[in-house]
Amino acid sequence: MLFILALFAWCSFHAGFVSAQTVPGGKKISPVLFGLFFEDINYAADGGLYAELVQNRSFEYNPTERKEWHPFAYWEYISPGYSYGRISVETKEPLHPNNPHYIVLDVEFVGHYEQYKGETGVGFKNSGFDGIVVREGEKYNFSLFARQLSDVPVQLWISLQNPKGEVLSENSISTSSTDWVKYATTLTAKACCDTASLVVMARNEGKLALDMISLFPEKTFKNRTNGLRADLAQMLADLQPKFIRFPGGCLVHGDGLGNMYRWKNTIGPVEQRKGQRNIWGYHQTAGLGFFEYFQFCEDIGAKPLPVLPAAVSCQNSGGTWRIGGTGQQTLPMGEMPDYIQEVLDLIEWANGPVTSEWGAKRAAAGHSEPFMLEYIGIGNEDKITPEFEERFTMIYNAVKKEHPEITVVGTVGPFHSGPDFEKGWELANELKIPVVDEHYYTDPNWFITNQYRYDRYDRNASKVYLGEYASWGNKLRNAIAEAAYLTSLERNGDVVLMASYAPLLAKKGFTQWRTDLIFYDNVNIVPTPNYHVQKMFMNNQGDFYFENIIEYNKSDSTLAASCVADSKTGDVILKMVNASNENKNFVIDLSSFGITEGEAEMTLLNGDAEAENTFFDSETLVPEKVVFDVDEKFVYPAFAMSLTVIRMKTTQ
Ligand code: AHR
Repeated sequence: MLFILALFAWCSFHAGFVSAQTVPGGKKISPVLFGLFFEDINYAADGGLYAELVQNRSFEYNPTERKEWHPFAYWEYISPGYSYGRISVETKEPLHPNNPHYIVLDVEFVGHYEQYKGETGVGFKNSGFDGIVVREGEKYNFSLFARQLSDVPVQLWISLQNPKGEVLSENSISTSSTDWVKYATTLTAKACCDTASLVVMARNEGKLALDMISLFPEKTFKNRTNGLRADLAQMLADLQPKFIRFPGGCLVHGDGLGNMYRWKNTIGPVEQRKGQRNIWGYHQTAGLGFFEYFQFCEDIGAKPLPVLPAAVSCQNSGGTWRIGGTGQQTLPMGEMPDYIQEVLDLIEWANGPVTSEWGAKRAAAGHSEPFMLEYIGIGNEDKITPEFEERFTMIYNAVKKEHPEITVVGTVGPFHSGPDFEKGWELANELKIPVVDEHYYTDPNWFITNQYRYDRYDRNASKVYLGEYASWGNKLRNAIAEAAYLTSLERNGDVVLMASYAPLLAKKGFTQWRTDLIFYDNVNIVPTPNYHVQKMFMNNQGDFYFENIIEYNKSDSTLAASCVADSKTGDVILKMVNASNENKNFVIDLSSFGITEGEAEMTLLNGDAEAENTFFDSETLVPEKVVFDVDEKFVYPAFAMSLTVIRMKTTQ
């Protein structure tokens, strides 16, 4: 091998590479090519990225979400020390109409017996999403809303306990009002536990209403309140995505009209947000709502790409995918003016001045500056029916008229071809939609053999956002097939504006999609080889593409390569993919960059085609970074089943 296997700081080249701004001979490509698609599927938000540790904190779980669920699901009634009382679920005078259910705790008797050792009282316990993870010395922010219903204040004992009932942290709160009031305290864990429970227990006789019982680690990503799980969010930040599409996926258009994602329900104080059934069969609290999505984008330097429904529901509503996806429901025309206004209001909320109605709401949430929204998606792989077309066109025209500065992303169905794809493209051509969202999940071989798909696209038609794609699987051979395809997206970066792998997150035990980018449980995170491929591309994006720098046997579809330059840094980046089972050569000629010799940073991912990362060994496949000596012209022998990225500085 040509490279020096050592991890030294990498040096710049003996290069005559002209100013980074000019990049001679290169084709301008999308500067925002690789980003993320986030959807609350596989417990990605609640129980995942959203750092709330209490499950069903607002007592809104119900049987429409899962047959066995009810408002007290995931709560356990407790009455230690021969105490007794009653609990009931109530809806009269709730904390907020969007959050209608709460619990009334009526404590009739608290036992105080010499024979009984330990805390006594009446209350309940929550074990979070399969256990609450606490770390020794770390702080946890507890809060609840209470309304005192008895004459006397109620003393509440709040504790974190391990499965043996040993107290890991405790504190208390006393009610002081017969109105709904938020009470908060901090719990500092004196020991680690991966399966702790939160106990809220009244220690004296009395009656009170309780809602929004919440526990967050103090350390969230960037220490945001109502924030994100720090390790998972960091994993996403490490990718350095150029954009994030949210909140879905099928979650956007929903299971019937009543289940469409309405962004206004997801902003403002969390206790006033409207949770709802998640199309993926659980509950979405909306705690991770539009404010948090936009904030996260800003925190990691990614452009926000919110997607709103095109006023139609998912064609598979009610499970009609079983009989051919005929379940698309459409918003009545009479409701369209209000719905269109809802779309326009999002733009004002994101970008409008604080003096505007919706800009003021953003400012009230703590963000006076605009969020710099540039893109908005309308629709998600909808069935392209006349009803869809009519509604999409109305929304599209309104956005175009009121906000010509916003780029609308349309949709062309769920597959890489077929009737919806064709009809979607016809509509795109007719309306001149700036960008359309293509989706395809297919086998790795398809990605290998379709590497020239976008080379054939009309350069004057709509640009493509490849919003969802994955080869079925998380083995190295899947990741390498995707890598080959990603080089073709770079080559066609004048047509393909953006691309995002899907789905992003999957919780162990709650995985609903066969292939995902990152797996995790409450403690561990397993990045797939597909994640590493994404990271190698996202960390090494360029905005100019160069032909003829890397030569290889083009009739061999297992080989792929690309060369891009980043005009901001002046770096030249080579990517070489060998998806075969034997080592193969690439011939590189850097003379057009004026590069003669020097050290480059090389990142290499390779291994057994069938290898994958698991919870037992999350590092079976990890890219290796080394310093690599390059010459003006050299042969690079790429390992079987490998992706190599070579990055060269051209400025001092
Ligand atoms: O990514 C999972 C699902 O795949 C998305 O929700 C949907 O858009 C697609 O069918």
